[in-house]
Amino acid sequence: MGNEKIPQVSGTRDVLPVDTYVKADEPWLRIGHYHLVEDAARTLFPLYGYQEARTPILERTELFARGVGEGTDIVGKEMYTFDDGVDGKTTSVTLRPEGTAAIVRAYVQHNLQVAGGETKWWYTGPMFRRERQQKGRYRQFTQIGVEAFGSPGPRVDVEQIEMLHRWLSALGLKFAMHINTLGDGDTRPRWKAALQEYLRARKDQLTKDSQERIETNPIRVLDSKFDKPEILAEAPKIDAFLSETAKKHFDGLQEGLTRLHVPFVVDARLVRGLDYYTLTTFEAIATEGLGAQSTIAGGGRYDGLVRLLGGGDVAGVGFAAGLERIALLCAAQNREATTRPVVFIAPLGDAEAAKADELGQALRAAGLAVEVSFRKSNVGNQLKRADALKARFALVLGESELASGKAKLKELATGAQHEIELQSLAESVKKLL
Ligand code: HAM
Repeated sequence: MGNEKIPQVSGTRDVLPVDTYVKADEPWLRIGHYHLVEDAARTLFPLYGYQEARTPILERTELFARGVGEGTDIVGKEMYTFDDGVDGKTTSVTLRPEGTAAIVRAYVQHNLQVAGGETKWWYTGPMFRRERQQKGRYRQFTQIGVEAFGSPGPRVDVEQIEMLHRWLSALGLKFAMHINTLGDGDTRPRWKAALQEYLRARKDQLTKDSQERIETNPIRVLDSKFDKPEILAEAPKIDAFLSETAKKHFDGLQEGLTRLHVPFVVDARLVRGLDYYTLTTFEAIATEGLGAQSTIAGGGRYDGLVRLLGGGDVAGVGFAAGLERIALLCAAQNREATTRPVVFIAPLGDAEAAKADELGQALRAAGLAVEVSFRKSNVGNQLKRADALKARFALVLGESELASGKAKLKELATGAQHEIELQSLAESVKKLL
């Protein structure tokens, strides 16, 4: 065993303090982008009735095979699956690649449909997919998602999309909300058959992946990034096949969004990569800053999923957003973010250093960020450091300050000096903020 460096697993990433963000209204508090994004969700989602649920990272493989779909890329190629002993038997388990199937499993397991009415949950946590790594695409990533059960009409879809729009807008992101319908049980078989017929006739012009999908999942071919756009654009549209119910739902969705002033674009190619969707699908797509992996959040309705996973006929709709992608966008918008202590305390000798430690403790107890200098150097160098840290005030402690209990608090941006009593330092600083 040598002492060479051990690299991290590819596709995973560390969140370092450099990923921090300074809140505009509280510039002295450093908040990680992750917290900023999560905090915004934590305060906003409950206003719409969503409560937090936490489910395990490890689930039985069959949950995703059945819930997300055997024919999807996620289940077919991307899951971290291994055998484990569960209840005395060898059982295949998987690191969850997404949250919806797990949330539905919990909903069914804890019999929540018995209570009837609406159940609205939000969740956050790590998800795992063995994908090719690139900017904004990782093998371990974090989702924040919501799921609403028990409401079949389009108004809850509208409410949820409005909430997503409000959340992302509050974070200052530039994005477009794409919506589509995938129809219902009366729509899909007829549309699928027409698509298959159209694609089979053009099979030799399609990529290998798409050729395979003609028989397994022809709707997904529409989502292909590698096939000729004109072939995809001319494929049969769902509109001609929409049942009365499906059409009414999609009309209701668009009317509702318009009524609430949520801007959207109808995007017929938005088919999503998971099999459980019916009717509404939607994605928030960044209009700048993310390159190819520009989808910040995606979701839709999944009215058959609760039944498919052993529960009753309960409607469901939800979305999940990628925390890393949002954090990347927030970071790009706030390049200036730096660490900023309110007070930089510079003691000049050993006795002053002991006093500085006590003053630091008192200021922090009052909720103020403080940097106490541990270095021995002259006043000039100490103040240079205070400047570099972008501290608001510097407090130099020498023999005379220690003896008199009085000192000057220097405002670094303006040079203004405020005479203060060391005993009541925290109050004086707070008054000046
Ligand atoms: P999804 O579209 O697979 O949907 O993922 C949702 C979001 O998670 C994506 O828009 C993206 O921001 C982020 N994401 C996905 N894969 C990666 C990755 N490899 N690296 C970084 N970020 C990623 C779902 O997972 C559904 N469960 C959403 C849903 C909830 N539908 C209904 N309810």
